Amino acid sequence: MRWVVTGAAGMLGREVVDLLRGNGSEVVARSRADLDVVDPRACRDAVAGADVVVNCAAATAVDAAESDEAGAFAVNATGPRNLAVAAAAAGARLVQVSTDYVFDGRAVAPYRVDDPTGPLSAYGRTKLAGEWAAASADAGALVVRTSWLYGEHGGCFPKTVVRLGRARGALSVVDDQLGQPTWAADVARVLRDLVLAGAPAGTYHATAGGRTSWWEFAGAVLASAGLGDVVLTPVGSAQYPTAAPRPACSVLDTGRLGEVGVTAPGPWRERWERAAVAVLA
Ligand SMILES: NC(=O)c1ccc[n+]([C@@H]2O[C@H](COP(=O)([O-])OP(=O)(O)OC[C@H]3O[C@@H](n4cnc5c(N)ncnc54)[C@H](OP(=O)(O)O)[C@@H]3O)[C@@H](O)[C@H]2O)c1
Repeated sequence: MRWVVTGAAGMLGREVVDLLRGNGSEVVARSRADLDVVDPRACRDAVAGADVVVNCAAATAVDAAESDEAGAFAVNATGPRNLAVAAAAAGARLVQVSTDYVFDGRAVAPYRVDDPTGPLSAYGRTKLAGEWAAASADAGALVVRTSWLYGEHGGCFPKTVVRLGRARGALSVVDDQLGQPTWAADVARVLRDLVLAGAPAGTYHATAGGRTSWWEFAGAVLASAGLGDVVLTPVGSAQYPTAAPRPACSVLDTGRLGEVGVTAPGPWRERWERAAVAVLA
């Protein structure tokens, strides 16, 4: 099976490439420098001969997208469209990675894959458009939503918490946004397993289990880093304004993974404790 991974230099892309290579799969890794997903011809050339295309390329700067929605749309929606068209022409299967930010965060129960969407931000709108683009151009496409990613490669929330905790000795972190911190390595494993399981086309959720706030997660991170003496103050989102509004509660229901024989990532705290040494190294 020949895999093409786009956005291969990003946090998730690197995990996907490493996992597949570790399993001895044939992997073509395309970073932004090798393949701009906005270019349809380049996508067609890159996807020729592939069996599976895993699209990890995205414009992920959530706040920046508010002032450049067209730019984010090009990467997050036109990009998947280009890859889906190319995948369909090549007889390959597209795996499109998406986000909890397609939801408005007002639900009490975890969002199921077919619950109504309602993005609050430009980033969320462009990612939702990417889901539609992928599914409409490639009948076999898998759309996999994840959330609150952290990992070894590149910046992420735990690394920022440790850096600022060390530097300042005190941190204020929002406690009124609930979600699921999820290890990029776990998502990479789910993406691979969905493909190997021959999962039916459609949408899946791939997040760690349970739910927490950024404040509680920061506490777990500081404990793992031996920084339990850092003063950690919970604050409301209103005290920490950002350009893009965030969903208040974007917990995703991963139940569909089990229905197709794929194991969901475990509880967020257990997964964090397993990941911490590598992520904070
Ligand atoms: N990070 C999270 O918390 C989170 C949460 C939910 C869902 N997701 C989704 O997970 C996926 C992977 O995100 P990530 O966290 O790995 O993000 P990331 O580290 O920012 O990786 C995205 C990669 O895409 C590349 N890219 C940007 N524009 C491109 C273009 N036009 N053509 C090709 N590549 C391009 C970026 O390159 P440059 O760095 O050079 O721009 C970067 O290497 C995305 O679909 C994202 O929406 C992420």
